[in-house]
Amino acid sequence: MECKITLIPGDGIGPEIVGEAVKVLNKVADKFGHTFNYTKILMGGCSIDEYGVPLTDEAVDICKASDAVLLGAVGGNVGNSRWYDVAPNLRPEAGLLKIRKDLGLFANLRPAYLYNELKKACPLKEEITKDGFDMIIVRELTGGLYFGERETKTVNGMLEARDTLTYNEEEIRRIAIKAFEIARKRKKKVTSVDKANVLDSSRLWRKVVAEVSKDYEDVALENMLVDNCAMQLVMNPGQFDVILTENMFGDILSDEASMITGSIGMLSSASLGKTKLGLYEPSHGSAPDIAGQNKANPIATILSAAMMLKFSLDLDKEANAIEEAVAKVLSEGYRTVDIASNETKEVVGTDKMGDLIAAN
Ligand code: NAI
Ligand code: MG
Repeated sequence: MECKITLIPGDGIGPEIVGEAVKVLNKVADKFGHTFNYTKILMGGCSIDEYGVPLTDEAVDICKASDAVLLGAVGGNVGNSRWYDVAPNLRPEAGLLKIRKDLGLFANLRPAYLYNELKKACPLKEEITKDGFDMIIVRELTGGLYFGERETKTVNGMLEARDTLTYNEEEIRRIAIKAFEIARKRKKKVTSVDKANVLDSSRLWRKVVAEVSKDYEDVALENMLVDNCAMQLVMNPGQFDVILTENMFGDILSDEASMITGSIGMLSSASLGKTKLGLYEPSHGSAPDIAGQNKANPIATILSAAMMLKFSLDLDKEANAIEEAVAKVLSEGYRTVDIASNETKEVVGTDKMGDLIAAN
């Protein structure tokens, strides 16, 4: 099979981790007889430096003409980079919002799975994690606060800023359908997370999700308030299968879920829309604090490449081969520094972790 893959290395650790994912993809191509053709584009701070904007329309067109897009991460040091103190549409993160919007990606899937081998790196007590957990967060990606109206103005001599949170029925319905479809192939439970005791947008969310659930009688629906969900994630993570939630709640909860797996460096993600074209990226950011030091964990990006093979290219066998290789390398005791413990056989750098996974 011949596939066109757009690569977006981005900023910070992005180029290092995408490089390792490509190493693994090339091994897959060799072994299974595929041809992956890569086109690299700029997004984020590197694109601002080159073109003055975080993502050009030409770059988006290249993504649209490909089968899938693999992204590292974008952005500099928060509060302390040459890309920080500028208009919102000229910040690196604006590239992320633009690409999601332009490619029509409204569903962000973030699995949070506890590897047996990483229980030592998990900050939760052993009695909480003894049965493990395996959940997937389905986060709405193109609505809510991050896409609302915003304004900063002076009122009565004082600066005042405003952001608005809006959802319509159709936006809620399409993401709810994705969540129920995914749950149907898993443990058949959807936990819809909102703040319906306070927000009108959450009340509408709850109403539309309940309507959608009528078409999925084999899937259990539970509603949970977001603050309770934040607690439940650390008290009893094993209760969750699919967590369905809006944009900002999903952003925060998925970072929390990632930490209880041991490291944000382990978590992949997929962003999907109505077509097969998807965007695949690690859940973490550009980690400027460790960029260029060969310390970054490439596993989240490598597992994102596996999700890409599965969801956009229908290469399930190949995706499983990558997942198994990751598990094998972990079981052999190799760790990057973020997931190391005193029982680690060898702490390895970004490049060696990529080599080991490719070799397996
Ligand atoms: P971050 O995820 O980049 O880093 C948080 C912490 O986790 C840091 O201590 C970092 O060293 C560590 N970390 C992250 N990825 C790791 C990996 N693969 N291996 C080992 N350790 C890892 O989040 P932070 O610091 O809040 O943001 C840094 C920049 O990234 C900002 O400019 C932010 O806007 C951007 N960002 C970009 C995202 C994207 O491109 N999708 C998502 C989140 C943040
Ligand atoms: Mg985040």
